[in-house]
Amino acid sequence: MPYIRRPGLTCRLVFVITAAALGSAFQHGYNTGVVNAPQDLLMDFIKDSYRAHFEREPGGHAVTIIYSIMVSIFCIGGMVGALSTAYVAEKFGRRGALLLNNIFVFIAAGFMGFSKMAQSYEMLILGRFLIGINSGLNAGIAPMYLTEISPVHLRGAVGTIYQLVITISILVSQVLGIPQVLGTEKLWPFLFGLTVVPAIFMLLTMPFCPESPRYILIFQGKEVTAQKALTWLRGTGDVHEEIDEMKAEFEAMKLIPKVTVQEMWTNPWLRTPLIISVMVMLSQQLSGINAVIFFSTKIFEGAGLNKQTSLSATMGMGGINVLMTILSVVLVERAGRRTLHLVGLGGMSIITILLTVCLVFKEHSVWFSYFSIVLVIGFVVMFATGPGSIPWFLVGELFGQGARAMATSIAVAVNWSANFVVGLGFLPLVTILGDYTFLVFTALLVFFVFFTYKKVPETKNKTIEEITAIFRQKTYQ
Ligand code: GLC
Repeated sequence: MPYIRRPGLTCRLVFVITAAALGSAFQHGYNTGVVNAPQDLLMDFIKDSYRAHFEREPGGHAVTIIYSIMVSIFCIGGMVGALSTAYVAEKFGRRGALLLNNIFVFIAAGFMGFSKMAQSYEMLILGRFLIGINSGLNAGIAPMYLTEISPVHLRGAVGTIYQLVITISILVSQVLGIPQVLGTEKLWPFLFGLTVVPAIFMLLTMPFCPESPRYILIFQGKEVTAQKALTWLRGTGDVHEEIDEMKAEFEAMKLIPKVTVQEMWTNPWLRTPLIISVMVMLSQQLSGINAVIFFSTKIFEGAGLNKQTSLSATMGMGGINVLMTILSVVLVERAGRRTLHLVGLGGMSIITILLTVCLVFKEHSVWFSYFSIVLVIGFVVMFATGPGSIPWFLVGELFGQGARAMATSIAVAVNWSANFVVGLGFLPLVTILGDYTFLVFTALLVFFVFFTYKKVPETKNKTIEEITAIFRQKTYQ
């Protein structure tokens, strides 16, 4: 590895990370969690608004179906946003795209926040779709920006911040949604209107941050401006080694004429990292994490606990998700990405087996019920160790500039699609498989452990040039 001096975490870099991650990942996490606690209130609202529109009672499962659409359309928006990442991030730059993306937040918050006043559940659905587009774009662009502005030895830690903010905002949404705060018939629209706060925060802070120096150098061809931006971020003029490394990435990019989706598939230098990127994204979602994040209260109740204990356990779980993700910020630069991803997925697969045993034998002793809480929390701990954060930034590490945005678009869209499938498919699966449902995740997790072991390279402390060179070797396919 070429010698790269270790510039520290400057105040400016911290400022930029905060500006980019808070405003973006907050939307992703908050809107994932916000519909859980007030589920009954939202269903009542759908009922009322249906009556007002059609002047009759909603029939059969209409309310449940409308509610499910409202919840899951967020992921469809996410897919649309993710697929637009490549175009938007290249046309407007990373910083420009993040800033512009807030337009969706204001429109979405307007639709969602005023839906009750207008007696229109359609507005809530449309708003969820738009905030989904915003979140899909954020999930592609923000980790890309964070990966590009970080010094090589901090790239993993900085990349993990995106997931950290997601976990914090899921917790915030869980707390704000309880009846003692905003989860009441009168106040729930504020839960949705609140999404403008992080957008305002970003609009106030991000204009003071530079565009990604890598983007400036490679896409705009402005070396002096790139150097200035990097000097500002690092707090030192001694940035030649990093600029040289970016130039090497630029040279490597020239070897690949034009990156199209077809080129990504036919060129083995690109196809292998693309398959790895898609697989790590799939491993994150098909681990079943959102079955737990969305339905933990129901899972705890199913394990024999009462409603209050189940709600408290859900919040405890949210808190532990945050704490463990904080720990992973430190761990990721020590243990490495591959190891943590393997440990996380491996741990989750064992836990799903134990959880199944507890669910099957819950009638025999109350201890099985209590142990199931420990296991669900253990599941989240294992997730937060690696699979939660690593996929977001690993994709950016596996590709040079030429293909990074396209690969991110594809991988993040796969993530949202799998999220959608698990969110929609979990409850029907429970009706078919009952207490054995988690074994489906065991099988998938075992497959992903095997795949990661075989295919995912360690990227810790390697420059992008060194990583992409791994895939140019004939043997790595
Ligand atoms: C990751 C997943 C997201 C999940 C969250 C839980 O960000 O992408 O779907 O809700 O982790 O911490």
